[in-house]
Formats: sequence, C-alpha cells, structure tokens
Amino acid sequence: YSIDKIRNFSIIAHVDHGKSTLADRLLELTGVIKADKANKQILDKLQVEKERGITVKAQTASLFYEYKGKKHLLNLIDTPGHVDFHYEVKRSLAACQGAILLVDANEGVQAQTLANFYLAFELDLPIIPVINKIDLKVAKPEVVVQQLNTLFDITPDQIIKISAKLGTGVDEVLKAIVERIPCPQVTSGSDKATQVPFKGLLFDSHYDRFRGVVASVAVKEGQISAGDKILSLQTKKKYDVQEVGVMSPDGVPISRLYEGQVGYIIANMKKAKDALIGDTLCLAEHPVDPLPGFKPAQAMVFAGLFPADQSEFSSLQDAITKLTLNDSSVEVNSDHSAALGQGFRLGFLGLLHMDVFEQRLRQEFHINAIVTAPNVPYKVKVKGAKNIKFYGGEVVTVLNPCHLPPLSIIEEIQEPLVLGTIIVPDCYLGDLVSLSMKYRGVQVEQSYIDDTRIMFKVVFPLNEIIVTFFDELKSVTSGYGSFDYEDYGYKTGNLVKLDIYVHNVIIEELTSLVHVTKVEDRGRELCLKLKEHLSRQQFEYTIRAAINQRFIAKETVKAYRKDVTARVKSGHDMARKKLLLDRQKEGKARLRLAGKVPVKKDVLMKVLRK
Ligand code: GTP
Repeated sequence: YSIDKIRNFSIIAHVDHGKSTLADRLLELTGVIKADKANKQILDKLQVEKERGITVKAQTASLFYEYKGKKHLLNLIDTPGHVDFHYEVKRSLAACQGAILLVDANEGVQAQTLANFYLAFELDLPIIPVINKIDLKVAKPEVVVQQLNTLFDITPDQIIKISAKLGTGVDEVLKAIVERIPCPQVTSGSDKATQVPFKGLLFDSHYDRFRGVVASVAVKEGQISAGDKILSLQTKKKYDVQEVGVMSPDGVPISRLYEGQVGYIIANMKKAKDALIGDTLCLAEHPVDPLPGFKPAQAMVFAGLFPADQSEFSSLQDAITKLTLNDSSVEVNSDHSAALGQGFRLGFLGLLHMDVFEQRLRQEFHINAIVTAPNVPYKVKVKGAKNIKFYGGEVVTVLNPCHLPPLSIIEEIQEPLVLGTIIVPDCYLGDLVSLSMKYRGVQVEQSYIDDTRIMFKVVFPLNEIIVTFFDELKSVTSGYGSFDYEDYGYKTGNLVKLDIYVHNVIIEELTSLVHVTKVEDRGRELCLKLKEHLSRQQFEYTIRAAINQRFIAKETVKAYRKDVTARVKSGHDMARKKLLLDRQKEGKARLRLAGKVPVKKDVLMKVLRK
C-alpha cells in the first residue's frame, strides 16, 4: 500500500454508544470477519470487557477496503471508552489522522463524548460525526444534530446517521474515512523512507504468554523490520526486533512496517512495564528526538489487597504478576496489616480500573481477595530542616493514611482535585447542585447544550468522588446523568486524620484522611458499622473515633451476660448470690484491663466494603 492509500483512525464515543458494534460492522463489511453472531465484538477480547460491555484495553485492526476501484488499508485503532483510561485514549489518538465521533441518537452527547471530542480536537484531528442507533423508536437524531452544532460547531451536512446494529449507513462511514481523513503525514516522502531513521509511537501493548510483549506502534518516520535493533527513549533499553506485522484482527507477520503504517512489533520485551504507552522507539544506532507529550500513566486510587486466606498469598502474588504483565498502569507495592496479614498496596488509574482488576482476579484466577477502602495519594508538606532531610524532601507523597507523618511536623496536607463534566436534563438541576455540594464540589461553569440539557463543570476533591458519587449521580438523575473527569492538580485541604479505636487499640486498616466538615459523620458511621459486626465479649468495651487523640464519636458494646446465680436454688440464699455477682464483676474488670477485642478479617471486610 502506498502511503496515500492508508488511513489511520479511531472511533471515540461515550460508553455504550455502540463503538464495538460499529467496529464489528466495519470488520464485516471489509471482509475481515464473517457476518456471524459468534463474532460479536471482536475487539473486546477480555472476558470482563465482554461481560461489562466496556472496552478496557485498546486493540487495533487493519481493514482492506476498495474505494473507487482502488484498494485502501484502513487501520482502526480502538480506544477505551471510560474516564479512567483518558491517557490511553489520547495515546491511541496520537497514532491516528482522524476520528469518528459516535453519538447515541437517543442519549445524545454525554460527558465522555465531550471529553473525547476535546482530546481529538487538541490533536487537530478531522472528526467525522456519526449519529448511531437511528433504528431505535426513541431516537431523536435532530436533537443530537442541534447539540453537535451548539457544542462543536458541527454543521448538519457533515453528520452521518447510521444504525450500527442493522448496518444502515455504515458504508457511508467507510467512504467518509477515505474522503475526509488524510493519509498519514510523511516527513520524508515515502520513496525516501528507506533513508530516514525509524521513529515510532508506542501507543498500546498487550502481553502474549508465548511471545512476551506485543507492542502496537505507529511508524512516524522511516521503517522497521525483523532483525533491527531498537531503543526505547523512555526506558533506554535496547531490543532485537523479532517480528513486525499488522492486526487483521489477529497478528499477521509482514516483512516491514513503513512510515505511516500502524502495526505491531515483537521484540524481546519481557514485561508490560518495558512497553510504556506514549514512548518513542527508534533504531539503537540512530537515536532521534522523542515524540512530544509523554507522561507515564499515574495511579490515582490506592487500596490494600490481601488474600482472604493467608495460605493463598503466593497465588495472589502470582495472579497480580500475571495481570500486571498486561497492564503497566497498575502500581504494585507490598503491604502488611496486623489483621489481614501479608498483602499488597496497589495503585489504579481510577475506581473502575480497580473494579476491573478485582473482577479479573476472581474470574481468571479464582482468587478471593480483600480490598480495603480506596484512597487517593496525598501530598504532605513537612516542616523543620531535620524532618525534611529525614523524609528526603519537603513534600512527602502519602499513599496510605496510616503512614502519615506525625501531626506536629506537618505544615499542610494537599489533596488531588479533578475537573468534572456532568451532563443532565435540566429538571435535575436542583438535585445536581445539592449533590455537588455534598461531595464538596465547586461549580465553575454551567451552560445549556440543547433546549433541555445542561452541562456543568465542577471541581471536586478526587477522594470525595471515588466511591459513591457516580452511583448517586445515576440515582438522583434516574440514570440520565453522565460524568467524566480530568486531573486538576493538587490543593491544600482542611483534612484531618481519623483514627478508630476498638477497646483502646487503633485499628490501622480503618485510618483515613477526612475533610473537617465530614469527619464527625464519618467517625460515627464507622463506629456504628463496627458495632454492628463486632461480637460481644465477657466485658464491656468501646469503639471510638478520634482526631489526634480527641474522641469525636463513641459506641459501647455491652458484655454478654451469663447468669452466674442460676444454680443457686430458690430465692433464699441472697448472700451467696451477691458473692457470685461480685466475683463476676471483679472478673470482668480484670478481663477488661487485660482483654483484647479481636477485629477479625470478615468484620473489616464488611466495614470496608464500598
Ligand atoms: P464501550 O465498549 O463500553 O465503549 O461500549 P460500546 O460503545 O462499544 O457499545 P456497544 O457496541 O457495546 O453497544 C452498546 C449497546 O448498544 C449494545 O447493547 C448494542 O447492541 C447496542 N447498539 C449498538 N448499536 C446499536 C444500534 O445501531 N441500534 C440499536 N438499537 N442498538 C445498538
């Protein structure tokens, strides 16, 4: 294929707007797969993706399409649809020269439609607007046309209306890809490609059990073939290329990947961490300037992961190793807890990322793990030259609240913020405003995107929204609200450390950092939940919540009662009864001093469950 017959494109859409269905239709129409029910959603390879119907890991496929009698090579670069994976979307888009913006004819523009549009827009990519699901009875394509115009200045004549399910209009989409998306830009002219050193964008990777890392690469300059020695500009590691090829939709080896093409490279990369998304690859003997905009994926949600049974520790370790082979964005640290034993502290891109990971552990490795309450990374400024030296810097990143430096040396605590985009029908305006306030949101923008729907931009502390916000938004808006967020830096927060004491002992697994305005509610809630699940002892004990050793909530668990006087016959022997009761009282007092209240795993699990 000469370079002018190549198109590299992506489909971007809000979750469930039909991206995978459209991809399947495109693959069918171009004969890559047979029209067959069993072939549904070829690109969604992971079991979780199939089950949840969401795309987690991007995949690519090469389509062969005849346009005006000429064969074209269309490379479809699939992008994950969810908020947690923005960075991957951006890298995938950087490998393209255009994008299809797919919008559901009933739901209209949603929060991730907006976010994805802007990612493509920032990269200056031509966008083909496509309205999908026009076969639905409730479809309102005209409303969507208006939204696209208001938000993105897209005119009606640019828009293609299709039903990916039935195949209506899909050939229009194929034509538009060839007509509206430019061929890859070539800096050297394809005939000279042999003289220009190779430069490639690594935009995705997956791990193959037999062959190691398979890296998806967009060749930006020059060419690459098996036998070449390549260098990663980020890791500085060198590799021998064993195979290059295209995905169609499975790997097909070819002799050479040229400038403008998208394909895969198998070199001797052993771990996913070797293949950093966004990295620049070049020939080992011809180093080049890196492509712009590389930033490593940043874990923003951390949680402890412990085996439900300590004997399963090594299987858990093994499973984590295998899962992270394919997902370099998971950060792995070891962890230990008095109650939960040996385990891990893992960092994820977001909550969905964490859920998917946990689900895969269960489904693919049959491991039942305890996941502790998630938290975000805090930045803690310490004071005093000695302390700064001890912590190796003025700012300490704290991944686990129970490892917070002593309060006396803390100058301030900063928490990560996000800028959220929320789209809701305007009848939910009031509910949305109170919901945002509840989650400490600060509204920065509000505008209508059509006659009835409003878009809000709200800055939230990430920690507030990671657990229940999305579910609550769905419930107060009867399912109509959509949400997306992006990083918004760090800000000093009025946060305090909340400790939970059971019978005077701090339960480290429950320590958290909470905003002052919420700490009392949170403390009470945790005490009550613990009381519900902890068993009674022979003595009375307390469950208390404290900020810096000042108690703010308290629950008492009464002793269980044993009637020590039951054996004293009839009511006569009062003196004996009194003696027995006194002895019991003394015994309890002794136990109370010496006794311990075990906070077992299952209790923690119930209290920590989201
Ligand atoms: P993510 O992978 O999570 O981003 O979802 P997706 O955008 O790939 O959506 P998917 O293709 O899985 O489609 C979501 C749902 O919409 C599925 O139940 C599809 O069957 C349905 N769907 C897709 N296209 C159409 C269409 O044209 N008409 C109708 N009626 N349903 C459609």
